[in-house]
Amino acid sequence: MGANPPGKWTARTMKGVILAGGLGTRLYPLTKVTNKHLLPVYNKPMIYYSIQTLINAGITDILLVTGGNGAGDFLRLLGNGKEFGLQHLNYTYQEGEGGIAAALSLAEFFVQNEPVCVMLGDNIIERNIGQVVRAYEKQGKGAKILLKEVKDPQRFGVPVFDKDRILRIEEKPKVPKSPYAVTGIYCFDHDVFDIIRTLKPSARGELEITDVNNVYIERGLMTWDLLEGWWTDAGTFESLSLAGHLVSQTGTNTP
Ligand code: DAU
Repeated sequence: MGANPPGKWTARTMKGVILAGGLGTRLYPLTKVTNKHLLPVYNKPMIYYSIQTLINAGITDILLVTGGNGAGDFLRLLGNGKEFGLQHLNYTYQEGEGGIAAALSLAEFFVQNEPVCVMLGDNIIERNIGQVVRAYEKQGKGAKILLKEVKDPQRFGVPVFDKDRILRIEEKPKVPKSPYAVTGIYCFDHDVFDIIRTLKPSARGELEITDVNNVYIERGLMTWDLLEGWWTDAGTFESLSLAGHLVSQTGTNTP
């Protein structure tokens, strides 16, 4: 499987990776015996939303990285993705909770030389990101992130701007330098795996996706867009409850 020339990618060759590992400790005891991404968000298991988001963007070659409790339940729930109209669904397992970048590193064998759209399994969005994926295809290399203005940026990765240029991203800063969150949807080229190999664990003992993004920013290879429509994570009691409310208000196109 060789790399496609820059600018010649299509959504069909773009790989999708959904990260659904971690221990979900912020939702304890809901996550004592099950995986966070199997919890209900309104009328569907949380994992349904990220899968459908990638499919809606035209990405159908998908790897699910899971871990922790209840990993086998994903197979019982999703099988080969037939309910989503997929012909196949790929799985792998992350031992421990080494961080988002550590989970992504497990996707190297699957992504190979293709570009990849990565989505955190606890992120839920309203709209279709197909346009973003197509813009990244035109970009041809580097990375792309999606930002959303939020009331509580200190919970997230937060971009520091010079006019409309991102200088760096700060992970959960006590004093955020902008009102934007870096959402958990990222487009990367295959250099991402070499970058992850250079990372050192952060103060919370994890390989951080923010450190990956900062390398792309230093190299001048990062672009960003504002995400349209609502966005939330579902990793805390408040945001899980909000996610259910938002989905119930706007409906959902999951199967
Ligand atoms: O939601 C967006 C935010 O997600 C970003 O703004 C932050 O920059 C980014 O670090 C991340 O922050 P969180 O601290 O909220 O991430 P959390 O530890 O909750 O992990 C989010 C998802 O990533 C989780 O639902 C599953 C996956 N994950 C996480 C870890 C730590 C894994 O697959 N493996 C892991 O080891």
